[in-house]
Amino acid sequence: MKLFIYRNEEETCKAYAGFILREANKCIEKDGMFNLVLSGGNSPKKVFDILIGEPNRETINWKKVKFFFGDERHVPRDDPRNNAFMAENYLFKPLNISEDQIFRVDTSLKPQESADVYWNSILEYFEKRPVVFDLIMLGLGDDAHTASLFPHSDLLKETDEGVRATYLDKEKMYRISLTAPLINQAKNTGILTYGQKKASAVAAVLEGTYDPSRYPAQLIKNPQWYIDVSAASALKESQHF
Ligand code: 6PG
Repeated sequence: MKLFIYRNEEETCKAYAGFILREANKCIEKDGMFNLVLSGGNSPKKVFDILIGEPNRETINWKKVKFFFGDERHVPRDDPRNNAFMAENYLFKPLNISEDQIFRVDTSLKPQESADVYWNSILEYFEKRPVVFDLIMLGLGDDAHTASLFPHSDLLKETDEGVRATYLDKEKMYRISLTAPLINQAKNTGILTYGQKKASAVAAVLEGTYDPSRYPAQLIKNPQWYIDVSAASALKESQHF
């Protein structure tokens, strides 16, 4: 596990954008492709702003990138809570990403059907090869969830790679999420989080007792952490610094 701590949100997001750019160029150089899984919520927005800005936007051959989602809210695709809707406005439109580069969750289907169809589209894309994403972006909720792996959810017990629907009672909404085993198969996973609100979740995941039912982000093996000093403020051990 690598933990990178930055002075503020801006520097954290710049560093995370650099992480994506480095991995993208490495993969495109080596394999001619970059399979990137996007996280949702608000944290990625500033990273996307940095990626679409000069000079970054010119440093990647975006046509070689395929975009997937680590999780999706089961709401209509034009609902502002929809993660693909956010990515469309912050990343895909500004970079003129074509539709055939984007693997969306079809939320017009029933929840488990949305999950099954999405998972089948991923399997089809990877053909007979193992489903190993090059980089999976992850955020962290203040309850220590990541993707849509929420505390005490049945999804946390899932031992197979795949995509599942899970009902989130507090939001009265279904979520569609990659399972932890699938996330852990990726070449790189990077948790991006910043701000004081996340401090206790960061400390619980990194220094609390190992209890993934309470702190689901502990299921993620060896992620790289990109956080700011505010999100790091509850960490006890100077070993992290
Ligand atoms: C989602 C995300 C989720 C997110 C965290 C943090 O669909 O909401 O994938 O796991 O990363 O909830 O959200 P913020 O970045 O908005 O704090």
